[in-house]
Amino acid sequence: MARKKIAFIGAGNVGATCAHLCFLRGLGDIVLYDIIDGLPQGKALDMAESAPVVGVDAEVIGTTNIKDIAGADCCVVTSGSPRKPGMSRDDLLKINAGVMNDVGAAIKAHAPKSFIIAVTNPLDAMVTQLKRVTGFPKNRIVGQAGVLDSARYRTFLAMELKTSVESVSAMVLGGHGDDMVPVRSYTTVGGQPVEKLISPTRLEEIEKRTRGGGGEIVNLMKTSSYYAAGTAVFRMVDAYIRDKREILPCAAYLEGEYGVRGLFAGVPVVIGAGGVERIVEIALTPGEKKAFDGSVAHVKELVDAMDKVIAAGNR
Ligand code: 2OP
Repeated sequence: MARKKIAFIGAGNVGATCAHLCFLRGLGDIVLYDIIDGLPQGKALDMAESAPVVGVDAEVIGTTNIKDIAGADCCVVTSGSPRKPGMSRDDLLKINAGVMNDVGAAIKAHAPKSFIIAVTNPLDAMVTQLKRVTGFPKNRIVGQAGVLDSARYRTFLAMELKTSVESVSAMVLGGHGDDMVPVRSYTTVGGQPVEKLISPTRLEEIEKRTRGGGGEIVNLMKTSSYYAAGTAVFRMVDAYIRDKREILPCAAYLEGEYGVRGLFAGVPVVIGAGGVERIVEIALTPGEKKAFDGSVAHVKELVDAMDKVIAAGNR
């Protein structure tokens, strides 16, 4: 059977971290695309030279020609601008929505059967724009946020309880913003509800740190996180390529589930060879549902703000 082809549109830190994990695990041939000449080619060669060390037989190419994504099974989209000092949210929305228009058109033309995993921020708006441009059905486009946010929550809970991260199950839902929703009622440590193990005050502190997890790293490194973000995307690519049917919290297009219609929001989904095969509806407590609705209202505001800047640019 021919190897799968995984295209990374954007070969920055998150894309390259994920690409290397996919390469080392032998998930398929890798294409690293970027607009900065030399960067994807250099990273691809560096990655290829890691193959003999661990015995991987897959190809990795770096390119500035978007046509090289042709026939990809999976496209990971990380391209776009990070938020720079002095840049407003609207500036960022405008720049990155423009990037999504170009990237979406290219995917539609060259990899029309692929599964798209969107990562570019602001995530909930960018995945919306990519869906519009590609016209892909909702099972073939998803956004990464919940796996990363849940990993941060699990990390902090494991640190608090001095336990293995593997013993902590948790889910963070809603938008990828400051009001994301750690779902306590589904968070367990060694099977025990977290609320039995940690006081409400301390849990609130841990959840606050989780919500600000991206910012905490930016403050330290002056750039966005990439080990955890790239690994989170890897987990989603792996579930798709190996048809794992894994339940992961991801930004999925909702058509009535959780009372939301026509928006992307972070919910548990089944990821397998069919892409987003199913949205899993869990029963949230009234407090969690209220927080989820508030987070989704912010996603809607974000999409409306993006539409405004796009409309202003078209006038
Ligand atoms: C994060 O949360 C930047 O979305 C990225 O670290």
